[in-house]
Amino acid sequence: MINAKITGIGGYVPEKIYDNAYMESIVDTSDEWIVRRTGVKERRISADDEYTTDMATKAAKKALENAGLGAEDIDLIILATVTPDYFTPSCACVVQRNIGAVNAAAFDYNAACSGFVTGLIIAKQFIQTGMYKNILIVCADTLSKATDYTDRATCVLFGDAAGAAVVSASEEEGIMTTDMGADGTGALSITSLAYRNDDEEIEKRVAHRKDTIWMAGQAVMKFAVKAMADASNKVVREAGLTWDDISLVVPHQANYRIVDSAIKRMGITEDKVYLTLEKYGNTSASCIPVALSEAVEKGRIKKGDNIVLVGFGGGLTWGAALIRW
Ligand code: COA
Repeated sequence: MINAKITGIGGYVPEKIYDNAYMESIVDTSDEWIVRRTGVKERRISADDEYTTDMATKAAKKALENAGLGAEDIDLIILATVTPDYFTPSCACVVQRNIGAVNAAAFDYNAACSGFVTGLIIAKQFIQTGMYKNILIVCADTLSKATDYTDRATCVLFGDAAGAAVVSASEEEGIMTTDMGADGTGALSITSLAYRNDDEEIEKRVAHRKDTIWMAGQAVMKFAVKAMADASNKVVREAGLTWDDISLVVPHQANYRIVDSAIKRMGITEDKVYLTLEKYGNTSASCIPVALSEAVEKGRIKKGDNIVLVGFGGGLTWGAALIRW
């Protein structure tokens, strides 16, 4: 069996920062409330003329460089976003052009915040069948452009970022056990409207704007804790390992309380968890690759380490992967 392994990783965050003092100046909130209820202190915000594919291209270039590959070595680009520049072309095709990946097929997919782990699972299938050797996964979102900055329940959570990884055929073990799933009964718990002209959905939004994200925070939170814990426990168990064998967990960074409750269900403590939540907030699918990239740079991850990546998001969806670095 051919193994699929992450051979390169890269992250990008824009320079502009909205800190909690700024959030206090635009909505009825406080630094104390935001930190206690979410754990977020700052978020990065894309420039007015900086779009999803611009950030995606930067992260993609970093991942390629980190893998020591040229763009022409890539066979497939898959890109996860919920804030695409266009419905067509796909953002993946724009990135393919921007980096000059002339040999790559390209498509977008939508698993919301579960996008990175879903991408690893997609990439693993193409590699294990022998169809492709090098796949570039890119996760990018300009959530700030879809955020209603009059809605205090959502605007304090989101930020912008992009993360990318190269997954290659390898003799070494890489992406080991995985789990992904969906619960469509919760489909309307987080919504962002496309062509659907739905009065009920529009009325839910504070400013009655059609183009912003709405969510039922508490319902998502309840789902997230169970989904993250169950999926993580499953991938560890199915690998024949225990939590003692796992060096680090890199979770989706939506809310500190979600992470805290989920890790209690896994029976682990925070020293085994890598968090970027405080400085970037929830950046959708890019949370995990951005955090992973930073953890590698900071020496928190070493060759041979077993790492659990776990995410959840709109759909509702979830995904977990146990990877060997
Ligand atoms: N500042 C101050 N008060 C706020 C606030 C803010 N930024 N946002 C909401 N509140 C208020 C609410 O209006 C409510 O007031 P009320 O009691 O007078 O009606 C009160 O705080 C409690 O609201 P509630 O929604 O019960 O708070 P919560 O503890 O569930 O926290 C979220 C809200 C959104 C932070 C939390 O539900 C969450 O993080 N959910 C998961 C969201 C998520 O992960 N989404 C992305 C999925 S990938």
